Amino acid sequence: MDKANELKNIHAKWLAECTCELRKTATQGVTGDGNTNAQIVFIGEAPGAKEDKEGRPFIGSAGKFLAEMLESVKMKREDIYITNIVKYRPPENRDPTLKEIADCAEWLAEEIKLIDPTLIVFLGRHSMNHFFPDEKISEAHGVLLTGNHFGKARNFLPLYHPAAALYNGSLREVLKKDFKKISKILKTLK
Ligand code: URA
Repeated sequence: MDKANELKNIHAKWLAECTCELRKTATQGVTGDGNTNAQIVFIGEAPGAKEDKEGRPFIGSAGKFLAEMLESVKMKREDIYITNIVKYRPPENRDPTLKEIADCAEWLAEEIKLIDPTLIVFLGRHSMNHFFPDEKISEAHGVLLTGNHFGKARNFLPLYHPAAALYNGSLREVLKKDFKKISKILKTLK
């Protein structure tokens, strides 16, 4: 079976079996989306209102800003894979709880192991802190981290979440600079 079909099966299985309590309030599960042969996987936090309605990650205002950032470094959404640590929208877009993150964790692990990217980019502190609980996003953003996650030693780059940077001019500049590091870092990893 090819990777795209394997991924479809992973999503279908977890959409049926995930025990996350947020299923009760969300419209639908928002699965990861993109290129199954991607060298880079972006991991965000949880779907927002637009994602919940349409079933695709990062298509609201944070997603549009992310698309702008990708374009600024000549990357296309079709080249990457993008997903969230939590697949269901938390009510009023509140932060996901540790239990909600834990309930969606195996789903995320199966996606990552299948795609097996060279670099994993965390969008925001929630996804970073699930794997690196002692790091602070204000210090770790733009810095390559390595760690044993998803079955082997892997490379991670934490960035500010685009929603945080969207309305904050100084974070916006930091995020732009950090985005420029992605392809440089990727080259060092090959
Ligand atoms: N923010 C996220 O972290 N994920 C989405 O899918 C949308 C907004």
